Amino acid sequence: MTKLRPTSSLQTHLCFLLFLLLLLISHANSQSLQDREQAVLLKLKSYLQSPPFLSHWIPSTSNTSHCSWRPEITCTNNSVTGLSLVNTNITLPVPPFICDLKNLTLIDLSYNYFPGEFPKAFYNCSKLQYLDLSQNYFVGKIPDDIDSLRRLRYLNLARNNFSGDIPVAIGRLQELRNLQLCMNEFNGSVPPEIGNLSNLEDLNLSYNVKLVPWNLLSNFTRLKKLKTLCIRQSYLVGELPGTIGEMEALEELDLAINSLSGTIPSGLFLLENLSIIHLFQNILSGDVPQMVEALNLSAIDLSGNYLTGPIPEDYGKLTKLTVLALSYNDFSGEIPTNIGRLPNLINFKLSNNNLSGTLHPDFGRYSELESFEVSVNRLTGKLPDNLCYWGKLLGLEAYENNLTGELPTSLGNCSSLSTVKVYDNGLSGNIPSGMWTAPNLSSVLMSNNSFTGELPEKMSWNLSRLEIRDNRFSGNIPAGVSSWTNLQVFDAGNNFFNGTVPQELTSLPSLITLYLDQNKLTGFLPTDIISWKTLYTLNFSRNQLYGPIPAKLGLLPGLAALDLSENQLSGQIPAQLGRLKLNNLNLSSNHLSGKIPIEFQNAAYDRSFLDNQGLCATSPSAKLKICNRKSGKISSKYLALILTFGILLSLLALSLSFFMVRAYWKRNRSDSNWKLTRFQRLNFTESKIISGVTENNLVGSGGSGKVYRVPVNRTGDVVAVKKISNDTNLEEKLEKEFLAEVKILSSIRHANIVKLMCCISKDNSKLLVYEYLENRSLDQWLHKRNWPSNLTSSDHHVVLDWPKRLQIAVGAARGLCYMHHYCVPPVVHRDMKSSNILLDSDFNAKIADFGLAKMLVKEGELATMSAVAGTPGYFAPEFGYTRRMNEKIDVYSFGVILLELTTGREAKDEHTNLVEWAWRHFEKRNPLADALDEDIREPCWLDEMCFVFTLAIRCTQRLPCDRPSMMEVVRILNRCGNR
Ligand SMILES: *[C@@H]1O[C@H](CO)[C@@H](O)[C@H](O)[C@H]1NC(C)=O
Ligand SMILES: *[C@@H]1O[C@H](CO)[C@@H](O)[C@H](O)[C@H]1NC(C)=O
Ligand SMILES: *[C@@H]1O[C@H](CO)[C@@H](O)[C@H](O)[C@H]1NC(C)=O
Repeated sequence: MTKLRPTSSLQTHLCFLLFLLLLLISHANSQSLQDREQAVLLKLKSYLQSPPFLSHWIPSTSNTSHCSWRPEITCTNNSVTGLSLVNTNITLPVPPFICDLKNLTLIDLSYNYFPGEFPKAFYNCSKLQYLDLSQNYFVGKIPDDIDSLRRLRYLNLARNNFSGDIPVAIGRLQELRNLQLCMNEFNGSVPPEIGNLSNLEDLNLSYNVKLVPWNLLSNFTRLKKLKTLCIRQSYLVGELPGTIGEMEALEELDLAINSLSGTIPSGLFLLENLSIIHLFQNILSGDVPQMVEALNLSAIDLSGNYLTGPIPEDYGKLTKLTVLALSYNDFSGEIPTNIGRLPNLINFKLSNNNLSGTLHPDFGRYSELESFEVSVNRLTGKLPDNLCYWGKLLGLEAYENNLTGELPTSLGNCSSLSTVKVYDNGLSGNIPSGMWTAPNLSSVLMSNNSFTGELPEKMSWNLSRLEIRDNRFSGNIPAGVSSWTNLQVFDAGNNFFNGTVPQELTSLPSLITLYLDQNKLTGFLPTDIISWKTLYTLNFSRNQLYGPIPAKLGLLPGLAALDLSENQLSGQIPAQLGRLKLNNLNLSSNHLSGKIPIEFQNAAYDRSFLDNQGLCATSPSAKLKICNRKSGKISSKYLALILTFGILLSLLALSLSFFMVRAYWKRNRSDSNWKLTRFQRLNFTESKIISGVTENNLVGSGGSGKVYRVPVNRTGDVVAVKKISNDTNLEEKLEKEFLAEVKILSSIRHANIVKLMCCISKDNSKLLVYEYLENRSLDQWLHKRNWPSNLTSSDHHVVLDWPKRLQIAVGAARGLCYMHHYCVPPVVHRDMKSSNILLDSDFNAKIADFGLAKMLVKEGELATMSAVAGTPGYFAPEFGYTRRMNEKIDVYSFGVILLELTTGREAKDEHTNLVEWAWRHFEKRNPLADALDEDIREPCWLDEMCFVFTLAIRCTQRLPCDRPSMMEVVRILNRCGNR
């Protein structure tokens, strides 16, 4: 074999040469492929105008250098197979030549501002398997031939503005594993053919709030490989199919916030792999399946339905369970004991049911409990002692039960603790002393129990609500109270507190409500009131206080309710009190004397001064004697003095305003740059908006700004623009907060919340751009204001009949409920009123103007007080001038809207306040039907209308805790609508 024949040697040489040649050619070929790819990428770079983030895309001698252009490029065998341009602020259309990169299998263009329709250019990427276009500005329909991308395994079109139907063609993408379509503008239907995607593992259609009501769940149950099925808040109706129990692979089921009805199929709880069930806020009813074999379940949230029967014993076998939320249902019977020993339970929520029996003492002992909520049931016995055994507990809510015994000792050593709500029980004993100093403690609501002991000197500085009314607390109000600096509500009425009112109490800067009535306090009231800038309610009635009424009370800018009745106060009523705008004044049963300030000498204060022997009035009044006139003339010397002083003052004011006006003009000329803050895809430019804000387009104006109807393009799209102007430049902090809130609001999609598209701002004005709703606001229909010109008032009766009004009530309630209960952190509206409820062409309610305008007002700023203090007739009694408000103020205002809907009356006219009127009617036990709107009072609707009227009464209770939550309101209204 070693000896070569010449011929064969020649052959070998030839072969070798040929081989070399081939190698050369093929190399040249592949080189040209790589050069081509590099050329395409460089073209892409220049198409994108060479943005800074692509500065490392530099061609070099090595023809595969582009394979190292990370993170945008991935190569396989020196050929580009992946292109990721994620979160790079691109605003240009998708380049039409993108698929000149023939080997692309992955394209990720998420988090940009790509405009236009779904780019068919992708069809040229015949190997494409992974396409992510989420969070862009794409519009129009998903194309009917999208199945051209037949190799697609992953398709993410979430958070765009795609509309129309979801095409049948999607059901032909047989390779698809993952389909993400959440948060778009689809306003058509979903094809049953999605059920043909036999390889699908993950399907998300959540938050498509404009879909036509639909239910294809029985088709989807054929997806035997599906692990995740999320269709939250997308207008699902009808029942859950029994075949859902055949989806063997299912791990996560989230169909929350829809209108699913009927019972929960027993098969669901038998699915071995199931780990999450979210079916909260539907209208499911009936008993829940008792047999549970899905031992992998880690979260069950069925809250806000109408489920009945006992809680299954079997839940106690779910050792992986971390969340058990069954609140707001009609469950009855006892809580199975073994649930108390679940080793992984973190959130336990069973509030608002009909549960009875006792709580197992082991709760908290075997798992790192964070929330424990069992309020509004009929539970008896003690609270479990170990609730904070692991030091993780954030909230304990057990109000409105029949619980007895002491608070759990573990609360005394629980640094995580933030909320304790145990009011309306029969609890007793002292408070574990360490509880007061838990650093995050912010709300302690324990009214109406039998707690004893004294208040501590030192308290968590985070504490904002302390409500301990109707207990047996005793001792002094400690001087250390001055360190409770964040306290907003302090209600300690009806206890055994004694001693004097410490001067330190007056230094609390955030206080809104102070009740210390019905105690044994004695001595003088503190005279030097320095910090109560935000105090709204002050009640010291039924104590043993003596001495004068401090004149400085008259300087409290926000005081609206003052009750000092049934004490031993003496002396004159300080004239300064007359400056206050008091809704409620009670100085009865004291020893006051002298003249009543002239401002109080009218019928509104008829009952404010009873049983004070020495008081008199200057004008005749039925209840008070007349003062005998004595002094009153001012000497001419004083008059001259006052005059000179007055002239001096006005001169000063004049020159001051001159400078201010000049400064204002200067500033206005200097800032002409509008800044656009957008969080969504827009099909218009900011200049369109700015030029559209003209008198011609003005459609309304209110306390917080003017509203314009602005056409934005030739296709007839219209937006609503709200212009808010402030007189002063905003502080940077406030500006930031404002934009943060804009961001939250514009990310929210809910069928009953007006969509905020963007905010355009200049130093001292802001333009908030919203979707435009053609039927405008509820108050216009209800109170016949500013009729749309094409309507006559006789249309009014036809249009806003009771079913429509109920539909509006339900919609608005759902919107509010979402903001209160499903946003983290919760969003409080702060200015609910019928003019903020807008109506679309089908009279669906959408809530507008979530608290933004209000934010621009500085805390405690006097001049703008009226703007912050809400709209007369709508704001809750506890309303203060602070931006940190409890969501129950919205519940109150919503109650007022329910009253408007049922009675047809305005929230406030010159004479009456609707809430007061309705409560009088209610308390006198007049027939409810007499209060209802005569225009729509048809016999067949009477029951429903009375029912909603009663709900309105509940919502407008004086004490926030007596009002239902919006979750409960939705439940009650849903039931009403379904009867
Ligand atoms: C890239 O595509 C070319 C044809 O265009 C093909 O010859 C080559 O094998 C592909 N490379 C890879 C890594 O798929
Ligand atoms: C996109 O824009 C934001 C805000 O202007 C900026 O912070 C960010 O760096 C930009 N990203 C890129 C990749 O250019
Ligand atoms: C959807 O499901 C229904 C009922 O199960 C069935 O009759 C229908 O053929 C299905 N549609 C498709 C397209 O698979």
